[in-house]
Amino acid sequence: MRTFNNISKLQKHLIELKNSDKTIGFVPTMGALHNGHISLIKQSCNENDITICSIFVNPTQFNNIGDLDSYPRTMDADINMLEAADCDIVFTPTIETMYPSNSEKEIIFNFGSLELVMEGKDRPGHFQGVGTIVKKLFDIIKPNNAYFGKKDYQQLLIIKELTKQYRLTPKIIGCEIIRENDGLAMSSRNMRLSNEQRIQAPFIRKTMLWAKENINNYSPSELILEVEKRINSNPEMKIGYFEISEADTLIKCEQWKDNTDYIAFIVVEMGDIRLIDNIELF
Ligand code: PAF
Repeated sequence: MRTFNNISKLQKHLIELKNSDKTIGFVPTMGALHNGHISLIKQSCNENDITICSIFVNPTQFNNIGDLDSYPRTMDADINMLEAADCDIVFTPTIETMYPSNSEKEIIFNFGSLELVMEGKDRPGHFQGVGTIVKKLFDIIKPNNAYFGKKDYQQLLIIKELTKQYRLTPKIIGCEIIRENDGLAMSSRNMRLSNEQRIQAPFIRKTMLWAKENINNYSPSELILEVEKRINSNPEMKIGYFEISEADTLIKCEQWKDNTDYIAFIVVEMGDIRLIDNIELF
């Protein structure tokens, strides 16, 4: 596996690969890798000649400085995992590389209503930061395919929109959520859970499965109230939000409609750790 932290050296290497007709799959990450990320790497390795992973904790997508400071950084372990997963290239730029002080003004993106709900509403500026860094990375790497987990489903839709608006090169591929054996969605944040929080955390998935089983027994608003009540009854948890939305547009579901794909989205706060998950309802 080759490691680059310099843009021009990486691009020189990528040009050589592209000149020999190699397809490039790209997995952007913020490090603290787990098997969810590795499943993206493996899918990319299966579908492309060359797989490149970036590791960059992007400051502009954190609206809370405490969250940025406490974000886990495990570079050595990450490199070992990527090596073991047969990743070909890892790109580990510094903040100065991605945000040079003399750089031109950052773009303000218009993601429309996709940005006004859920994570966009709770974390002002978050998706502007995600859009900024993903566009920079796509512009540098120009991959054929780029892989994103469906756990961050709203991010996936935003990146599809970004790619469409700016006619960026890659096809965006959404990959299934990878879970621990007890159902907890894999996340870099899980490593910060205390023992007791970790024992309780699968209750999020259990509650989501309960919601899916009970869509015929409740209206959307009743189901939301019931899920909020269940989560808040767990002493380790506080509900951030539970929302039911149309899968393509994230428009909130007021009443169940036939022939519509709905996804339920949840955020649960466990101490200062924010866990997110979602489930397809139909
Ligand atoms: O999902 C993430 O880890 C980040 O939001 C991403 C896409 C790597 C951009 O920093």
